[in-house]
Amino acid sequence: MIEKSYHIITFGCQMNVHDSQWLGRALTARGFVEASLEDAQVVVVNTCSVREKPEQKVMSALGRIRHVTGGNPDVLVGVAGCVAQQLGEGFFNKESQVRLVAGSDGISGAPAAIERLLEEPTLHLSLLDFTSHYVEREAGPGTSGSSSGPVAFVNIMQGCDNFCAYCIVPFTRGRQKSRSAAAILDECRAVLERGAREITLLGQNVNAFGQDKRGDGTSFAQLLRQVAGLPGLERLRYVTPHPKDMGPEDVAAFAELPQLCPRLHLPLQAGSDVVLRSMRRRYDSAAFLRLVDDLRAARPDLALSTDLIVAFPGETEEDFQDTLAMMRACNFMSSFSFIYSDRPGARAALFPGKIAPDVAQDRLRRLQALQDDLGARWLAARVENRDKTTLLMEGPSPKPGESAEPSWQGRDPYGVPVHVPLPAGADHTGFLVQTVITEAKKHSLLAVRTGEPW
Ligand code: SAH
Ligand code: SF4
Ligand code: F3S
Repeated sequence: MIEKSYHIITFGCQMNVHDSQWLGRALTARGFVEASLEDAQVVVVNTCSVREKPEQKVMSALGRIRHVTGGNPDVLVGVAGCVAQQLGEGFFNKESQVRLVAGSDGISGAPAAIERLLEEPTLHLSLLDFTSHYVEREAGPGTSGSSSGPVAFVNIMQGCDNFCAYCIVPFTRGRQKSRSAAAILDECRAVLERGAREITLLGQNVNAFGQDKRGDGTSFAQLLRQVAGLPGLERLRYVTPHPKDMGPEDVAAFAELPQLCPRLHLPLQAGSDVVLRSMRRRYDSAAFLRLVDDLRAARPDLALSTDLIVAFPGETEEDFQDTLAMMRACNFMSSFSFIYSDRPGARAALFPGKIAPDVAQDRLRRLQALQDDLGARWLAARVENRDKTTLLMEGPSPKPGESAEPSWQGRDPYGVPVHVPLPAGADHTGFLVQTVITEAKKHSLLAVRTGEPW
């Protein structure tokens, strides 16, 4: 075991990934070093409870930690994130190595709590209160000396007020709390100064930014404009918007802001109006299609991706067919799809009409087959058009290419991984490269360079 060392295991969405990265930086700023699970003195599991499977993974992660560390009582285990928020101090009884539980807001106090727990080996601490406002985090980027890389994520809000019938997030992340625009812009400037060229704004319902008591009067569209105007920013993205909150200014931003990438992840969840109503999504299929039309009018090359749930309680085969029809109508380039999973506390857990697992599996299989087909066609069209595209390089390709020059991986403005041979002997990370698409793989593209990296 290495004294003052940490290891973080992360499950869940990009907000959890972002929280874990922050926790790592904050611990580094306090003199800790990162270590493998075998060597770490402090192990934090950042958890997700959005569906049953991710929740199960938490308990198996704790079992693995006990196994790898031999149950060493000097190893401090912390559980953070959404399952910690729900189960709270229950973790202390489940696993004796756990001495810290930190919920969604409580994680901001985790670095100080970890130092205290190391000094007091019999102490247990729980940080489960929701705060009434967005808490700015200590040791923000820049203080730890770590570089942000070419692609940075910036949190703009915490929580969600929507209470979709299936969803646990409003319970685990609390009410929506917008961060101040000034703090967001400061963090964006800081990551740009440290070399980022692309920023993704993060939140559970980003386009409702500013529409809570904690907002400072800045709307999401205004925030987008302010961030897009920062010097050095080449690309801007955001996740996740809610279709009901996509206003005309949000649509217009796709026409007006060249930095805003032509890719939008817009969760549809289901195609049937009956199911959408029962999910409490507050839009119907016609409104969603109108929104897609408006977005494509603003940005004709816009690519859409989505989240879909199959086998919501009461979903008939006909309802499911409506989902498939909507997928075709919207031509989603990709989607995340899930079988509905009961979440204790969420309304739908009490709904009648639960769907048998084999029917659910069969719907998911058919949905994913359609998505594979739509995705493959979308990629093939890029090859057919010999699409000219700019890549933001992220690093060497995991597999060597066949050309004389080494292969590098970057992302195009649609977020698709693209492999391109680049001159040997240089680090191309963070450079932009003009390319032409030549070939499609299952989930990625191959390209050749048509200009010098800049
Ligand atoms: N705030 C985002 C994402 C929330 S969670 C949004 O509003 O879309 C990510 C995805 O998990 C959701 O979009 C939904 O498709 C899926 N999901 C959430 N709860 C679920 C449940 N109980 N069962 C199955 N899928 C679920
Ligand atoms: Fe969950 Fe709905 Fe909020 Fe998304 S908008 S986090 S699906 S409650
Ligand atoms: Fe999971 Fe919590 Fe994110 S439930 S999806 S980690 S908000």
